[in-house]
Amino acid sequence: MTNQSVRAVFWENRQVMLIDQRRLPGTFAVNGYATVAAVAEAIQAMVVRGAPAIGAAGAYAMVLAAHSSPAHDTAGLLADLRRAKALLDAARPTAVNLSWATARMLDAAEQAADPSVAVLQGLLLDEADAIAEEDVAINRRMGFYGAELIADGANLLHHCNTGALATVDFGTALGVVYACAEQGKRVHVWVDETRPRLQGARLTAWELLRAGIPMHLIADNSAGHLMRTGQVDAVLFGADRVAANGDVANKIGTYKLAVVACENRIPVYAVVPTSTVDLTLADGDQIPIEERSSEEVTHIDGVAIAPDGVPVYNPAFDVTPHRYLTAIVTEEGVCFPPFAVSLRQAKTAAEARIAAQRRQRRELPGGGGVVR
Ligand code: MRU
Repeated sequence: MTNQSVRAVFWENRQVMLIDQRRLPGTFAVNGYATVAAVAEAIQAMVVRGAPAIGAAGAYAMVLAAHSSPAHDTAGLLADLRRAKALLDAARPTAVNLSWATARMLDAAEQAADPSVAVLQGLLLDEADAIAEEDVAINRRMGFYGAELIADGANLLHHCNTGALATVDFGTALGVVYACAEQGKRVHVWVDETRPRLQGARLTAWELLRAGIPMHLIADNSAGHLMRTGQVDAVLFGADRVAANGDVANKIGTYKLAVVACENRIPVYAVVPTSTVDLTLADGDQIPIEERSSEEVTHIDGVAIAPDGVPVYNPAFDVTPHRYLTAIVTEEGVCFPPFAVSLRQAKTAAEARIAAQRRQRRELPGGGGVVR
């Protein structure tokens, strides 16, 4: 068995449908969201999480914005879309896939040949569907490229959740694990529990068990010991934003893993779609780091594990300087240092592909967009 496909984000009956990841592994529930504000709240509350999944949810929320807009003319509709984009982008500031997806939606509306309101509504749903479908295809390609870096029998250390749940389906770093398994490579995964939200324990463990992939859940503090004692062949993770020089913002704790891996001469791979690469930021110091509530640290499932009123600092992400990375796997291929060059090439190739695909969609019969 390999990946057990789950669709973390989809569109149904004019609603954005999201697997409620707060309830896993105990309960598998899918919630429907009918307003932009409700989707923004769901993103903030981490009903949906993982940079590419958040991006797809944001794209579908822009469709909701178009449907609910009272505007009778294009200018009014575009103004409503811009307001929706601002609300959505603020929900999770580090994951650039969110603002990337809402910008792409806005651009699709602005570039439309026939900008009537009805046509724009249909066209936006086509664009959101394209973002979602492309995400799955991109993950498959990253899986293929990433698997070439992994030897049969490898022990992999993985942080957070980067699987089907963190994307539309299949995953980024976990997608590499699924691709290895599909190719018959026997890999074993050390799953970091990933405090404070426990995405590793709750979500990655759930995914890997369903997929029948050998794994052990470890406390985050075990990772250094495993690396020093020769039990890790590669460290794999995703990212929420990658700066132009290759510095990577990912789930808090990633930096520590990369430094210890480097110390022990273990390769470190970040697996990221080019939508996660933000060429507008020169380096990782410019990436905004989201801070989340103190309850995430003081409580587990509503149970207090720290004294009442304790002061808490809870940054959700950290930055790993690019010198600790062996390679960055993208859907355009594996990027090696100097990342400033290889990432720019990957991003340019991806943008050309997206533009060509959009042109193709427009040329199809009915490609001007049909309201669904
Ligand atoms: O806070 P989260 O759970 O949204 O953080 C997710 C991560 O840090 C992932 O590693 C990242 O989004 C890449 S997932 C494909």
